[in-house]
Amino acid sequence: MGGGRRLPAAKGGSGMWTLGAAWLLLGAACSGSAQLTFAATKSAELYVCRETVTLPCIVTNLQMKNIKAMFVKWKLEKKEFFTFEGLTRTTHTNESFSTAKLASEETLSQGNASLSISIYQAIPGNYSCEVTESNREGEIVMPLIYGPEKWFTKGESSLVIVFLVLAILFYWSQLGIILLKYKITLLKKVCLISGGLIIIIFAIAGSVLLVSAVYVPKNQIGLGIIVIPAVILVPLQYFVLQTVLEEKRSLIVIGVIVLKSIGYLIAVIGFALCLGACPSKSSAIVIAGLTIMALIEAVGLIYLIFRGLTNE
Ligand SMILES: *[C@@H]1O[C@H](CO)[C@@H](O)[C@H](O)[C@H]1NC(C)=O
Ligand SMILES: *[C@@H]1O[C@H](CO)[C@@H](O)[C@H](O)[C@H]1NC(C)=O
Ligand SMILES: *[C@@H]1O[C@H](CO)[C@@H](O)[C@H](O)[C@H]1NC(C)=O
Repeated sequence: MGGGRRLPAAKGGSGMWTLGAAWLLLGAACSGSAQLTFAATKSAELYVCRETVTLPCIVTNLQMKNIKAMFVKWKLEKKEFFTFEGLTRTTHTNESFSTAKLASEETLSQGNASLSISIYQAIPGNYSCEVTESNREGEIVMPLIYGPEKWFTKGESSLVIVFLVLAILFYWSQLGIILLKYKITLLKKVCLISGGLIIIIFAIAGSVLLVSAVYVPKNQIGLGIIVIPAVILVPLQYFVLQTVLEEKRSLIVIGVIVLKSIGYLIAVIGFALCLGACPSKSSAIVIAGLTIMALIEAVGLIYLIFRGLTNE
């Protein structure tokens, strides 16, 4: 550059003047004054209950307002994954961002270069939006973070898990008493123990998905894995009580099984209702159902303890 400037200067006044003007123009084009500026954006939030996330990018000082002169580029952690060329109106996306598109192509010429992406493809991180209008350009960077919204709140998940764990604990306590104090066939022993283990495995898998999965479908599968297999607890408690009670159709057994089934039904209905809303609105019904199941297990346990005491 330096050499190029010296050459015309040696030729004389007018050449030098032309080059000086060009240099000024170039300087203006490269300096801040010719940069595109953006509406301030601190961050974008990803809401798990929505289908798409919109990354805002609003240019405030477009001059030509002509989409043909525009070019938009979006990057994640400095790696380009989306381009839009105004002249040909063509979009290119990285495979892993196939759902990315301008949120409002019609208003791009007014400066709206916001990007919409399916929430399943939008990864939290630093996104940058680079807009070019003819020879002016600018870039804005924003982090995408998870919004506070969840399908199930932490409190709701905790209550669901606590009551399931209580129901399982009370079942195993009853089973412990039976194994220690009563003579039962090996087959029955194996059934009661393996049933208890199966429900523990489902409880762990479901709780992990309910609490730690980010996206709603996985949380829903988690709650399903917690609620639906809980039906095992109904026959298990029946067999436990049946072992203890001589008359098999005593009022206690019937009462326990009927109430427990009602608790289970309530939990399943609550689960079905929860599937239809985001955030879930019927978590209280699921919790109520599981609470009834845990209570009935507790009643069974108290009965076994009481019976053990009075028999001695
Ligand atoms: C774009 O896709 C390639 C391969 O599909 C991948 O390696 C790269 O990380 C992607 N870029 C971004 C920004 O995700
Ligand atoms: C830009 O377009 C998006 C998507 O249509 C819209 O939500 C947003 O409000 C627009 N922003 C402005 C400043 O027009
Ligand atoms: C985004 O960038 C900021 C500052 O450069 C950095 O502190 C932060 O960790 C980045 N966020 C992510 C998710 O990479």
